[in-house]
Amino acid sequence: MKAARIHQHGDASVIRIDEIARPVPGMGQVLIEVAATSFNPTEVALRNGALRDLVPTHLPLTLGWDAAGTIVELGEGVHTHAVGDRVIGWIDGAAAEFAVADAASMVAAPAAVPLADAAALPLAGLTAWQAIERARLVAGERVLINGAGGGIGGFAVQLAHRARARVIATASPRSRHAVRRHGADQLIDYTATALGDALDGPVDVVLNLVGLGREQADALASLVRPGGRVVSVTNEIEAPPGSGMTTAKVVARNDPAQLAALVALADSGAITIEPTEHHPLGELAVLHRRAETGDIHGKIIVLPAA
Ligand SMILES: NC(=O)c1ccc[n+]([C@@H]2O[C@H](COP(=O)([O-])OP(=O)(O)OC[C@H]3O[C@@H](n4cnc5c(N)ncnc54)[C@H](OP(=O)(O)O)[C@@H]3O)[C@@H](O)[C@H]2O)c1
Repeated sequence: MKAARIHQHGDASVIRIDEIARPVPGMGQVLIEVAATSFNPTEVALRNGALRDLVPTHLPLTLGWDAAGTIVELGEGVHTHAVGDRVIGWIDGAAAEFAVADAASMVAAPAAVPLADAAALPLAGLTAWQAIERARLVAGERVLINGAGGGIGGFAVQLAHRARARVIATASPRSRHAVRRHGADQLIDYTATALGDALDGPVDVVLNLVGLGREQADALASLVRPGGRVVSVTNEIEAPPGSGMTTAKVVARNDPAQLAALVALADSGAITIEPTEHHPLGELAVLHRRAETGDIHGKIIVLPAA
């Protein structure tokens, strides 16, 4: 089978499409015929070695955290799933034609979207869910979502809108229509306007989804009312002294129950899954290069069988 692997850390040229043996599911695992994985920008750091201390890796490493596919074999002791089940999950090694995963990580795929497109949901959806949960949004509060045009942003805007917050979202022209469709009440084109100039007073909550320098982080925190909240999935953001503000950095964790809840929201139409592009597995290195120059936005689906 084909698998997108790295044999060493480095630039995007280390990504190779290897022909390797199909993995065998062990105790409690399932074998998935992968319909798609999706590209997550954090995989750039996995590939170049920047995540080495946080995420233990063994080389060669098959890339791909998001999986959508069909179960084709059950490992010993698996009674919760059946061959033929269409599933999604946050796993290791999904950028391949087949992948093994713990059965407990896999949840039923949403019926509302094509199976491959459902690969957009696990990592980005769970990060958005956990960040919104951490923000403890209350109906009527004003939340500024910085980075709403990205893969996580798409889900975060929808979840904040569902929480009946007033959503103010940053988006450049390429993402504005999607962000508006996802439920943003106000858009700020961060490429043309300073955020502070576009806001009608301080917000209750900032949700930051963009890597920031110290000055940008301080500027973002200054937009929050005294006693408000800042949640970031990238940098730690410090509260201005005496502001009474709480700040938190969220590092996403795999939570199949939350993923199942996201699937239920997708199936009920409460959230939509709208990938921006589809590419064959052989183009994964191109996506990594594009990500390094900021030339990607939204969720990109990667198809092993294409
Ligand atoms: N904490 C965690 O556990 C966790 C998990 C996954 C990812 N992450 C991190 O979260 C970040 C976002 O991930 P993602 O998958 O959503 O990335 P993404 O899809 O690449 O989105 C990035 C988006 O950020 C927007 N953006 C870029 N520069 C901006 C700026 N100066 N101001 C406002 N918006 C800006 C762009 O929006 P436009 O299209 O509008 O230009 C772009 O679409 C990444 O840094 C990733 O590494 C963290």
